[in-house]
Amino acid sequence: MKINDNFERMVPNYLFADVARKTNDFAKAHPDSEIIRLGIGDVTLPLAGVVVDAMKKGCEELRFKESFRGYPEYEGYDFARQAVADYYRSFGVKIDADEVFISDGAKSDCGNIGDIFSQDNTVLIPDPVYPVYVDANIMSGRNIIYAPSSKDDHFLAMPDRKVKADIIYICSPNNPTGAAYNHAQLKAWVDYALENNAVILYDAAYEAFIQDDLPRSIFAVEGARECAIELCSLSKTAGFTGVRCGYTVIPKELSRGGHRLHDLWYRRQATKFNGVSWAVQCGAAAVFSEEGQRQCLENISYYRQNAKIISDTLDELGIYYTGGKNSPYIWFECPNKMDSWEFFDYLLQNAGVVGTPGAGFGKCGKNYFRMTSFNSHEKTLEAVKRIKKLFI
Ligand code: MLT
Repeated sequence: MKINDNFERMVPNYLFADVARKTNDFAKAHPDSEIIRLGIGDVTLPLAGVVVDAMKKGCEELRFKESFRGYPEYEGYDFARQAVADYYRSFGVKIDADEVFISDGAKSDCGNIGDIFSQDNTVLIPDPVYPVYVDANIMSGRNIIYAPSSKDDHFLAMPDRKVKADIIYICSPNNPTGAAYNHAQLKAWVDYALENNAVILYDAAYEAFIQDDLPRSIFAVEGARECAIELCSLSKTAGFTGVRCGYTVIPKELSRGGHRLHDLWYRRQATKFNGVSWAVQCGAAAVFSEEGQRQCLENISYYRQNAKIISDTLDELGIYYTGGKNSPYIWFECPNKMDSWEFFDYLLQNAGVVGTPGAGFGKCGKNYFRMTSFNSHEKTLEAVKRIKKLFI
């Protein structure tokens, strides 16, 4: 028996587990400190009332023989898939309901989707980026190359035509930098993917935070239906980080090696996944109702105000940053040329504020730091007050 020795190529801990461990150690050693957590992107506002009502109704239906439901459809119930397709139509993108697969979230899908691709593929991943793409592909032994980004391109990595890739991960608005691609930039990625016969795995988990005139979906770009899969989540859109629900969109015309990727993913899901519960899909569909959108946007607008509090502070301190406008994340340069883990310790010890060190998102994040806007106004205001005290 041999273990999967690709695990030896991975960093020992998942980034957010490391951040939590360090924070808990500090809290134990300093029981009186009032720690403010702006680290992991977990939401703090409750679910929209209309979503809870729909889930309650869904649960009630399970009480009676006539409306009881057992195993859900592997690809999601029709009404939930249709609700997603209608949502896309609301921002001008046409997809069919049967191209939508309802899942337990984008994190699972962006790792699991690798099952339908050969391990011989070369995977191109922007740096910095959500560490799950890297870890999932190291686990399955794929060769990874990186598309670096920096202050020079405002953390929007662009394709290098000299480099050949088979699978390309793109996250926009990006986690961790909050930077979002415009239409022309996404078109350049689509053209590059088509030239390479590659497939883009597009993570749109933060699309609901977009305020500027930017694409909400890769399928807003011509040619994307022939080269892209989109993954999205209700975690940040509707506060489902605990409830768990997301979706993956695979256009029917997307084929490689004589196979429709849609069919391969259906086959994979039917084998390894038993679907999302009835009540949760009832809640998910309610997110996309008119009232659901109104209530969810109220929460997003609350988080946007927090993002503004943080970005205004960085403006005041003259610190370079990206994000905050079309994203719940603010990504900034560590003051005094500090390394990101050094800054993490400094901030925790001197201000009791937790963020996420940029190094955890890739080499290009070595001197950067991420903060989220998901805490309360009060705590966000208190955090920036403490930070200002340190740097003014
Ligand atoms: C993050 O903080 O980057 C996210 O919350 C992680 C996730 O969505 O899994």
